[in-house]
Amino acid sequence: MNEQQRKRIIDKHRDSLTRHGYHPHALYWSGRDIQEVRFQMLANIGIASGDSVLDVGCGFGDFKSWSEQQDSPLQYTGIDLSPDLLAQAKGYHQDAVFFTGDLFDMSFENKSFDWVILSGALNEQLHDESAYAKSIIARMYQLCRKGTAFNMLDARALTTHDLHSQTPKNILIFCQKLSPNCSVIDDYLANDFTIYMMR
Ligand SMILES: C[S@@+](CC[C@H](N)C(=O)[O-])C[C@H]1O[C@@H](n2cnc3c(N)ncnc32)[C@H](O)[C@@H]1O
Repeated sequence: MNEQQRKRIIDKHRDSLTRHGYHPHALYWSGRDIQEVRFQMLANIGIASGDSVLDVGCGFGDFKSWSEQQDSPLQYTGIDLSPDLLAQAKGYHQDAVFFTGDLFDMSFENKSFDWVILSGALNEQLHDESAYAKSIIARMYQLCRKGTAFNMLDARALTTHDLHSQTPKNILIFCQKLSPNCSVIDDYLANDFTIYMMR
């Protein structure tokens, strides 16, 4: 990701936060239900109470709040490019750790977290034939002890090229080169799929 792309993502979230405040719309989700059905799919990989989770592109840290509502508190670390969203997240979650930047700005040791998850942070169109998305997925998998779960927009359902999307099949083929145990879930929303990569 180049500096211009990074700035665009930071600026658009600053604008959306100013317009919407603490609301899924500030994250470009159409509603809380759409956000939370994605959380449920991520959690279904097997995330349990007390597990350590790195959430890449964490926004407000809403996955942490949602997990607590499911009686499954986590040891939660979030990273995000947007310092504005993270300033809010830090206020809501004083028992969590947050870092500003992208995954390649961080120097975490391999296998630092039980689970590494991502929801919505690979939707930015970078016009690089998914090279950045694949590099993030590979790094996420290096950082997990138990598994990695992430979602992407489904190119089979998407008509706009303003957002980055892929087919589940292409991404699954890529992930299977990294992990011996991968699976796809694509029956929860029309335009989204989730991939699990287990250790
Ligand atoms: C659709 S929002 C989802 C936020 C959160 N995962 C949720 O579901 O509530 C996408 C988030 O990813 C962040 N983001 C986008 N690209 C990123 C990147 N390459 N690295 C880190 N954060 C990124 C954005 O700033 C934004 O907060």
